[in-house]
Amino acid sequence: MRQERVAPDLSGVPETMLWPLWNRAAETGRRDRLIDDPMAVELVERIDYDFKGRFGKPTVFHPIRARVADDLIKTFVAGHPERPMVIALGEGLETQLWRLRQSSLCWCSVDLPEAIDVRKRLLPNHPEAIQIACSALDPGWMDAIPPGTKPFISAAGLLMYFTETEVRDLLARMAPRFPGAEIFFDTITPHVSLRTQRCLHITKNYKAPPMPWGVTVDDLPAFMASIPSVEVMSIQSYADPFPDRTRLYKLLSHVGPVRRRFAGGLVHVRTLPRPRGAAT
Ligand SMILES: C[S@@+](CC[C@H](N)C(=O)[O-])C[C@H]1O[C@@H](n2cnc3c(N)ncnc32)[C@H](O)[C@@H]1O
Repeated sequence: MRQERVAPDLSGVPETMLWPLWNRAAETGRRDRLIDDPMAVELVERIDYDFKGRFGKPTVFHPIRARVADDLIKTFVAGHPERPMVIALGEGLETQLWRLRQSSLCWCSVDLPEAIDVRKRLLPNHPEAIQIACSALDPGWMDAIPPGTKPFISAAGLLMYFTETEVRDLLARMAPRFPGAEIFFDTITPHVSLRTQRCLHITKNYKAPPMPWGVTVDDLPAFMASIPSVEVMSIQSYADPFPDRTRLYKLLSHVGPVRRRFAGGLVHVRTLPRPRGAAT
């Protein structure tokens, strides 16, 4: 039986959750797919929204991010056999919990109230999932996590919507609160950030919201080194993990000025029990 179509009624930054959903659904239809996300396909069919008109031709970049995060979480789960927990900040309509099919996982979604509302309307209940309707910048969500938890924290497609100071403060606050955690996030460059702040049309019908924080992949190690109690596990550009799908982008990313202008980053860090360099 066909389900009724749902109008999401989203605008501004929360509307951006539909963009990776569109790309994940399209990726699922490819023979050389990086992810298999039938739930994303179902959601795109159910949601009354002009995905193609707004976001245009699907691209591989959101599926790359989703696949890199999926792989990191699978490795994390294998190393944390006792009730591993994922906290997904700015989760939107990410369907990762179902894509991963890891029955032992506890899952916590944190997003703005209007986004959590859409999530609750469209996604099935999951016995191991909780949803917290608040800003990731509000430390309140951390109080909902049992002390001693060493979670995997994903902030895919989120931190670029904050200022550099907000990103720094958020990472610096999470580190002592969750020692031994792993964190994954992605970045855009200052050039792209500036373009979104001036006016970046993705299609003639869709303008990306302002994304204040940009950093080049080359500057990411220094940025991370400025945050106490956080250690980099890997920093790569979007061109790196699946070069067969990003041939031209990969080639161009070897040209310094092009990389600094356009190459987004995929960052995996862990939090340390005490600040780097502190006596044991
Ligand atoms: C580009 S979407 C990414 C969604 C999801 N992570 C994915 O990859 O499909 C950005 C998400 O960040 C959420 N968001 C924006 N500002 C936020 C904030 N201050 N706190 C928590 N979530 C926020 C939006 O509501 C939206 O769901």
